[in-house]
Amino acid sequence: MASTQTLSALMARGTDFLGSEYAIICGAMSWVSERHLVAAISNAGGFGLIACGAMTPALLDTEIAETKTRTSRPFGVNLITMHPQLTELIAVCARHGVTHVVLAGGLPPPGSLDAIKSMGAKLICFAPALSLAKKLIRSGVDALVIEGSEAGGHIGPVSLTVLAQEILPEVADQVPVFVAGGIGRGEAIAAYLEMGAAGVQLGTRFACATESIAHPNFKRAFFRASARDAVASVQHDARLPVIPVRALKNVGTELFTAQQRDTARALDEGSLAMAEAQLQIEHYWAGALRRAVIDGDVENGSLMAGQSVGMVKREEPVAEIMAELVAEAEAALDLRTTRRAAFAA
Ligand SMILES: Cc1cc2nc3c(=O)[nH]c(=O)nc-3n(C[C@H](O)[C@H](O)[C@H](O)COP(=O)(O)O)c2cc1C
Repeated sequence: MASTQTLSALMARGTDFLGSEYAIICGAMSWVSERHLVAAISNAGGFGLIACGAMTPALLDTEIAETKTRTSRPFGVNLITMHPQLTELIAVCARHGVTHVVLAGGLPPPGSLDAIKSMGAKLICFAPALSLAKKLIRSGVDALVIEGSEAGGHIGPVSLTVLAQEILPEVADQVPVFVAGGIGRGEAIAAYLEMGAAGVQLGTRFACATESIAHPNFKRAFFRASARDAVASVQHDARLPVIPVRALKNVGTELFTAQQRDTARALDEGSLAMAEAQLQIEHYWAGALRRAVIDGDVENGSLMAGQSVGMVKREEPVAEIMAELVAEAEAALDLRTTRRAAFAA
């Protein structure tokens, strides 16, 4: 099939970089992206990422080992830059010969880039703006993810539609760039590849796969939701810089507003320093997400989800989701060829 070859050609840079069959990454999702989902993604030809989140080095060690027993295909590890034991976590990755490390949550802290590169792994970072993309490339990162505000979880202010236009033409020839945020179907994958992306990263579309350990209540909330239910959290106090989080609206959304108020009051009273306040906010999210994903408390917990949630209709095995995405991308490419031929005739 011509479209299969075209899609492979468009993905070639991404698949060469990742070592996978498709340049489709399942973005790390705290509590969700553990051994079962990660292995299922990689076994289906995509690229799975373990979400280290707040795991201790010992827990990460076990998670990597368990993932290795479930897949012989490549997968990576996502580490959060503000983790107090980042150095130890990198050392765990090095011991396991992890081939790809994603650093999320900010610029790589001093020493982390060298530590990851010296263990022979490829380093992937998030670039929230063109200037930062250029800076990261200069500092030696191997690939970038640009994630739009449509995405689930912590988000930047700009949509992928705009980020892709600003960043891809400038840097896509220098390092592979993977695009994320709001992608739910293969047609969008084909379009971003044609714009110069090396591949894509999806989270929401895979969160409720059969192999995902997310609680049935969490999955049901996704199946019922539409794009407009996935809203970004609002900053309550201008002094307290909180990174917005996109999640399905529920009581938990209001609890977060209360949490911000309490934290701002503690700042006022001087009982909390700013760095500590920000860490408290992050701990709040980690706890709230766990409550929804693991305990199934979909009222008070955090239902982090992107706007593509409306395209998640039912529980499906990862292999079926992957096959659908690939078939849709190929069909879109076929349609372009047919249309071009019709115009030419
Ligand atoms: C439930 C959930 C949890 C997430 N947790 C993380 C995380 O721990 N670290 C991270 O870098 N990204 C996290 N993300 C973002 C995803 O890795 C991915 O970039 C995003 O979901 C892509 O956008 P999409 O949801 O529109 O597909 C999370 C997303 C969701 C939906």
